Amino acid sequence: MAEKFYITTPIYYPSDKLHIGHTYCTVATDTIARYKRLQGYDVMFLTGTDEHGQKIEDKAREAGVTPKEFVDRIVEGPRGVKDLWKLMNISNDRFIRTTDDYHEAAVQRIFKRMYDNGDIYKGTYKGKYCKPCESFWTESQLVDGKCPDCGREVQDAEEEAYFFRLSKYADRIRDLLENTDFLEPRSRVNEMIHNFIDPGLEDLCVSRTSFTWGVPVDFDPGHVVYVWVDALSNYITALGYENDRYDDYKDGWWPGVNIVGKEIVRFHSIIWPAMLMSLGEPLPKKCFGHGWLLLDGGKMSKSKGNVVDPYLLAEKFGVDALRFFLMRTFPFGSDGNFSNELLIQTINVDLANDLGNLVSRTTAMAEKYFPEGLPAERQPDDTLDPDLIAQATALRDKYADAMDHYAPHKALEEVFKVIQRANKYIDENAPWALAKDMEANGTRLATVLYNLLEAVRICSVLLTPFIPATTDAIFSQLGACGSCNGCCKTWESAAHWGTLPAKLLVRKGENLFPRIDVEKAIAELDAIQEEARRAALPPIEIEPQLTEQVDFDTFCKSDFRAVKVKHCEAVKKSDKLLKFTLDDGTGTDRQILSGVHHWYEPEDLIGKTLVAIVNLPPRKMMGQESQGMLISAVHTEKGEEQLHLLMVDDAIPAGAKLC
Ligand code: MSP
Repeated sequence: MAEKFYITTPIYYPSDKLHIGHTYCTVATDTIARYKRLQGYDVMFLTGTDEHGQKIEDKAREAGVTPKEFVDRIVEGPRGVKDLWKLMNISNDRFIRTTDDYHEAAVQRIFKRMYDNGDIYKGTYKGKYCKPCESFWTESQLVDGKCPDCGREVQDAEEEAYFFRLSKYADRIRDLLENTDFLEPRSRVNEMIHNFIDPGLEDLCVSRTSFTWGVPVDFDPGHVVYVWVDALSNYITALGYENDRYDDYKDGWWPGVNIVGKEIVRFHSIIWPAMLMSLGEPLPKKCFGHGWLLLDGGKMSKSKGNVVDPYLLAEKFGVDALRFFLMRTFPFGSDGNFSNELLIQTINVDLANDLGNLVSRTTAMAEKYFPEGLPAERQPDDTLDPDLIAQATALRDKYADAMDHYAPHKALEEVFKVIQRANKYIDENAPWALAKDMEANGTRLATVLYNLLEAVRICSVLLTPFIPATTDAIFSQLGACGSCNGCCKTWESAAHWGTLPAKLLVRKGENLFPRIDVEKAIAELDAIQEEARRAALPPIEIEPQLTEQVDFDTFCKSDFRAVKVKHCEAVKKSDKLLKFTLDDGTGTDRQILSGVHHWYEPEDLIGKTLVAIVNLPPRKMMGQESQGMLISAVHTEKGEEQLHLLMVDDAIPAGAKLC
């Protein structure tokens, strides 16, 4: 029976739309899950959403809906969390929502078990609380008086609360971190020991009374379970722990591997194991803390507003291109700077140039030179062939070594060495020259092409966890699967040269990754992002009214008159100013300059009756005198200033006083 492999992503806060950083974590976990399946493991891959807590309650209130309606929309709604994972070809076997009934009931039982065994007790919470992170901190843990995780302001908090005896597990947690390879990469162990274990683990506040959107403590209903206790439990409730929705916990699916971002390593490598110790359950096999994708060196946080929409990127560049970019570019354990240029460059260099060219040249030549199919006869060349064959057959083990060490970027590096080697092999063998004399060179040409097809096949098997739709397309171009029943796609076959059937009918397909025009694509992205930015702005903004009062006599000193536009023209060398010649009822023309050209063309204003204040002292604008000011209404719409000249009924005679 196949060995079980259980792997999870963090469950996402549906407090906002997911961004490319969230996508990174899920794509990475999906790639590992697919890799394990390829190796023959029986894989269970869990993801989901973490839907309780004050932040969600607050956001729902702002949106004028219930918390459940709020999270439903983000999780299940169009372009929500589930849609995104479907689009990104995420192969999760299960999706848990912490608002699922079975999970909520199981969390209550978990809390009660820890209470019953004396690990949870009632006390008073005094300290600091970071609302966005939903984390409690002691004074000594703050950095410059702010939340050590996100750097934001913390609030004083004091209330009756339940506490978890985290301090009791300090030695066992230290041992777990220092003396096993439970937490990786190793640098994260040092962070945990230095920041949390060495200063002394304090008991953890695990209930709240100041809001209600959470799992109620069933034996003390004023309290809701701390959102992290609720959330961490998902990894086992989703298998059926303390509930009968699933049977997998007792069927040996736990323990599993938790893949998490670096800022939540503390919860996964200290609190979570301590909870499991308290429950008397096995500890996770592994916690891997990956780095962050940064934007301009800063966190791509939804709270800071500089978000990159994965929908937009996947739709524009393709799901596999995005998946590939995320895994190829950023070493998994470290932070990396995300940029649109980098994404496009990676697509052009690795996918269009290296992989795309190899596949299209190989399949095009095989189809062109052997339209009836590749013959079975071979003519190896001891000088030209062995290096390619050796590199391609050694690839699988190097790849596995990297993948087993949670280094997907290194695995891809190895695959691309072979792709580059195969491209070189085309140049070394110049198939187009061989094709000039098919009678003399036909067998050698078939051998060269077969070798290339084999190299493409091996690389495609190993690329499948990363870009599954693309490798499907490649396999169908190779024309193998019809006759081999998928055996050329297996993990075993990736270390064996000569798996493709000797006779092959190859058909070149569509270009896998057309080259992208960098400047054009960046300009398009900028335009889309600008539009998204504007769409998020409030529709209409009105300037706040002044509270300072003017006395009536002062007000009466302003002389407003109806004026008729006799002539209007643009002021030379100014793109804003229009020059108005106005009938103000005095018999002498009045000239006013007004910065309204952005909204009006001069000819549209001739004959209109406007309102002007006429007793302002004259002033010069662009060398011309303006004798007063035209009155207009202004407001901001979608971030843009809007202006309307005040126009009154044409029946009002020029010079009529407005009061
Ligand atoms: N709800 C908690 C997890 C509970 S798990 C029991 C949570 N949710 S989150 O939505 O804020 O983040 C989910 C994951 O996305 C985390 O692993 C986090 O590190 C990851 N990322 C969020 N922004 C990221 C980047 N900019 N880059 C990489 N990963 C990032 O935390």
